[in-house]
This record gives sequence, C-alpha cells and structure tokens, in this order.
Amino acid sequence: MAKRRCHIFVTVALLLFGIVAILLLTIPTDDLTEPPEFMYGIVLDAGSSHTAMYIYKWPADKQNGTGVVTQHTECHPKGGGISSYAGQQGEAGRSLKSCLDQATRDIPRARHHLTPVYLGATAGMRLLNISSPVQSAQVLKEVGHTIQSYPFNYQGAAILSGQEEGAYGWVTVNYLLENFIKYGFVGHWLSPGRQTVGALDFGGASTQITFVTKDEVEDKRDRMKLHLYGHDYSLYTHSFLCYGRDQVFKRLLAHLVTAQGHTGNMSHPCFPAGYSVIMKVGTLFDSPCTVAQTPSSGYNPQAALSVEGSGDYDLCLGNMTEIFSFHSCPFSQCSFDKVFQPNVSGSFMAFSAFFYIHQFLQTTTGILVATPAQLEEAARAVCNMSISEMLVLAPHQKPRLQDFCAASVFTKVLFTRGYGFDEISFPRISFQKKVSLLDVNIIYLSISFFYSRYQHNH
Ligand SMILES: *[C@@H]1O[C@H](CO)[C@@H](O)[C@H](O)[C@H]1NC(C)=O
Ligand SMILES: *[C@@H]1O[C@H](CO)[C@@H](O)[C@H](O)[C@H]1NC(C)=O
Ligand SMILES: *[C@@H]1O[C@H](CO)[C@@H](O)[C@H](O)[C@H]1NC(C)=O
Ligand SMILES: *[C@@H]1O[C@H](CO)[C@@H](O)[C@H](O)[C@H]1NC(C)=O
Ligand SMILES: *[C@@H]1O[C@H](CO)[C@@H](O)[C@H](O)[C@H]1NC(C)=O
Ligand SMILES: *[C@@H]1O[C@H](CO)[C@@H](O)[C@H](O)[C@H]1NC(C)=O
Repeated sequence: MAKRRCHIFVTVALLLFGIVAILLLTIPTDDLTEPPEFMYGIVLDAGSSHTAMYIYKWPADKQNGTGVVTQHTECHPKGGGISSYAGQQGEAGRSLKSCLDQATRDIPRARHHLTPVYLGATAGMRLLNISSPVQSAQVLKEVGHTIQSYPFNYQGAAILSGQEEGAYGWVTVNYLLENFIKYGFVGHWLSPGRQTVGALDFGGASTQITFVTKDEVEDKRDRMKLHLYGHDYSLYTHSFLCYGRDQVFKRLLAHLVTAQGHTGNMSHPCFPAGYSVIMKVGTLFDSPCTVAQTPSSGYNPQAALSVEGSGDYDLCLGNMTEIFSFHSCPFSQCSFDKVFQPNVSGSFMAFSAFFYIHQFLQTTTGILVATPAQLEEAARAVCNMSISEMLVLAPHQKPRLQDFCAASVFTKVLFTRGYGFDEISFPRISFQKKVSLLDVNIIYLSISFFYSRYQHNH
C-alpha cells in the first residue's frame, strides 16, 4: 500500500508541475505558532514563446487534507521563452527577475521561505535540448540559479516530457470540469464519478492529444495509467513535437521555399492576398524541425526572401497536407508520422490556440463550426479573404491576421485526417478558452494524495 501511495504521489506530483507536491510539502500540520491565513506556491510555466509566473494561495489551516487553491497573482515577463535566450549568457535567468521581484512583494515576507517555487519547461526547451543539449542545460542551470537567489523554497527546474505535458493537460481539463472531484457547498469533496473528456492542446512548438481509451495502446510510449481519486484511468497520450503553431508556420514556409526555390519572390497560398513580408532565408532553417530541409546548394542564409500571399484554400491545403506524413504505419492504425492512435472516443476539449482559431472562424465568417464540413467551409472562406477584408472584420487581431488561414487549414488536416474526427465525433469537441491550471482564476484542487487515502479508508 505504501508503495502504491508513493507511486500515486510521484505521478500526480509530476503531472501537476509539482503543485500537488508543493501542497504536500507545505500544508502545515499543527505546528504553526501564529494563526496564519494563507500559504503560497509559485509556478513558472516556461513555454516556447513566453514564460508565465503564477502565484497560488490556499488557506493555511487545513486539517482535512483538502483545500481550495486560488490564484493569487500572475506575472508575464517581457521577451521570449527561456529557450530563446540560448547562448546569451545570463539572459534567461535575467528575464525572470522582474516577476520574481514581484513575487517577493506579492507574498508576505514571513511566508517567503515556506513558499515552494518550481519551473516546468515544455516543447521550446525540448527542441533546444535536441539542437544543443549544452545550451539547454546551461539555460536550465541559469534559471535555477536565478530562482535560488530569491528567498523562496526552490523545488527544481525541469523539462517536461511530451507524455507528461499531454497527461498534464488532460488532468488539468478534467480538474477544472470537476470530473474527478467537486467541492460541495457543505464543505466536502465529492466524487461525481463522471466521464472524463479528452484534451487537445496546441502550443507554440508542439501539439498534444490525450484521452481515455478502452482499446489496446499498441505503442507503450503512448500509454499512461493514472490512479486519481480512487479511479483508474487508462490514457492514450501523444505529443507531436514540431506541430506547435510557430513550428508549423516555419515548416510550411520551409516546404514552400524548398519547392519554389529559395531566392527572390515566393507565393504563399496560406497567406491572405494583399499580405507580403520580407525575411531572411536563414530564419526558416534555424530549428530542429526544419534543419533537415536546408537547401543543399546555393543556399545563402542572409539572402532576403519576399513572400507574397495568394490566399488559395486548395493550394494551402495541398501544401499543409505535405508537412504531415500519412503513409506507412507500423501498427494496426496510425494518426500520422507513424504514430499509433486508437479511435478517438468520448467528448473532447480543444483549448489554447485551437480556441482562438475556432472563434476567429466563427466570428469572421458567421459559420457555426461544429462539423468537419463546416470547418472546411469556414476555412475556405477565411483563406479567400484578403488581408484588408480581415482587418475590417477583426481589427484587434491585426498582428496575427496573416496566420489564420494556415492555422485553420492546419486544424482541419490535424483533426479530420490526422486524429480521425468524423461527422459523429467532431461535434463532440468543445472549443474552450485556454483552460490551464496555470491561468484560471479559481481552481478547485484537492490534495489528491490525502483524498484518495480517505476514499480507500472509507
Ligand atoms: C473536515 O472538514 C469539515 C468541513 O470543514 C469539518 O466539519 C470536519 O470537522 C473536518 N474533519 C476533521 C477530521 O478535521
Ligand atoms: C535532454 O535530452 C536527453 C536525451 O533525450 C535526455 O536524456 C535529457 O534528460 C534531456 N535533458 C533535460 C534537461 O531534460
Ligand atoms: C518581387 O516582387 C516585387 C513586388 O511585388 C517586384 O517589384 C519585384 O520585381 C519582384 N522581383 C522578382 C525577382 O520577381
Ligand atoms: C503548394 O503551393 C504552391 C504555391 O502556391 C503551388 O504551386 C503548389 O501546387 C502547392 N502544392 C500543392 C500540393 O497543392
Ligand atoms: C475504429 O474505427 C474504424 C472506422 O470507423 C472501425 O472500422 C474500427 O472497427 C474501429 N476500431 C475499433 C477498435 O473500434
Ligand atoms: C473569393 O473571393 C472572391 C472575391 O474576393 C469572390 O468572388 C469568390 O466568390 C470567393 N470565393 C469563395 C469560394 O468564397
């Protein structure tokens, strides 16, 4: 039993960016001298395009081992993700200072040394660890040093695996939907025993799919068993590195450049008509996701490339499909890129960038997007809009307008051809604003370890 508990503890702690561990470590028992009001925890979510710092608080007088955790404050440092400071001595650590300084002000001084702090990095750092393990280790070491120079209780800085990130998203979504537990009005944690929902996440450098399945998971790397709140869950989870937003755009451009030649002018069917941009060819091949496509002859990374949008849905779809690989599958069935996937089952929640794409499609076209056919119709309409038409319909999205055709077509290929959502399963996807444990205002997070022990005993 002790071994099992330990296992539960480790899994959950890992999944929740160590938040649960934080709670376990710092929930006071009865040795507090003064009646404290709150305990605090700090999580630094180091994504590929930016880092966010969240401070949580929870009542310090818990005896039951359950508590309502709420977000206290948050902070978004200026600049890019920590991986973008690779090779710039001291910069990654320095980029966190403004937020850590804020934390020292937001958390009462008497609580500083009791406040655990943890940094979890995702796909941006996984990519850096591929292109330069030395730089990635350096960046992690540096942010670790910076965090340790503050008076908090340092718990570590680590890169989450794709599997951990996928499962983390799934646990988060289901916590927030109260599918595991519910804090009743009478002050008890209840187990609603509901069905869980699958999670579809779209980050800057990777995309994840995670759901409960009864089918056999033929590739054990994509299988995860969780024991949460007295229930066993058998998950399928896969994280596709290089299929995050920024990397998809880069790969698509690299693909077009390789196909059309890498000098002079280029036509981009996923950019809207009337949009053009000039860039250095070298910026397309600087990522582990595109480096293999670097032109072999006459390649000058400094050469300027002029890219002009043509807003053509069919050509965009054709090129987008080519950045996936749908042939050869070593298992009974695959999503793409030789990755096993059982049939999707149950309801899903698509969040982060998927929500914004879906919302943009619906509001600019007036089409309700609830089936694959409607997704195609709306994507076709968005790709056919010129940049000035888009600007009229969605002026506040100005800096991102050029990306919506590509992002919509990507979503279509990924969901329908890749994951295999069809007329029946697609309508069971709900698109929700970024549901992250790390950025909702109020979360009901029980201290799962204690709770599951209660359940066993009762
Ligand atoms: C647990 O919490 C409830 C509600 O806050 C309280 O009524 C009960 O006495 C607590 N139990 C223990 C063992 O402290
Ligand atoms: C970097 O990748 C290697 C090889 O996959 C892995 O062993 C190592 O743990 C990774 N580094 C970090 C800091 O996660
Ligand atoms: C590239 O496009 C610009 C503007 O669209 C045009 O002025 C220029 O002549 C073109 N260059 C080539 C090599 O086609
Ligand atoms: C990719 O885009 C280019 C430029 O618009 C076009 O010529 C080509 O036919 C497209 N490829 C596919 C497979 O649609
Ligand atoms: C998966 O779906 C396909 C097509 O809908 C179906 O033929 C197949 O039997 C399903 N597999 C399982 C294990 O349910
Ligand atoms: C695309 O837009 C043009 C005018 O901008 C319009 O004539 C055409 O019908 C549109 N096509 C589709 C498929 O919406």
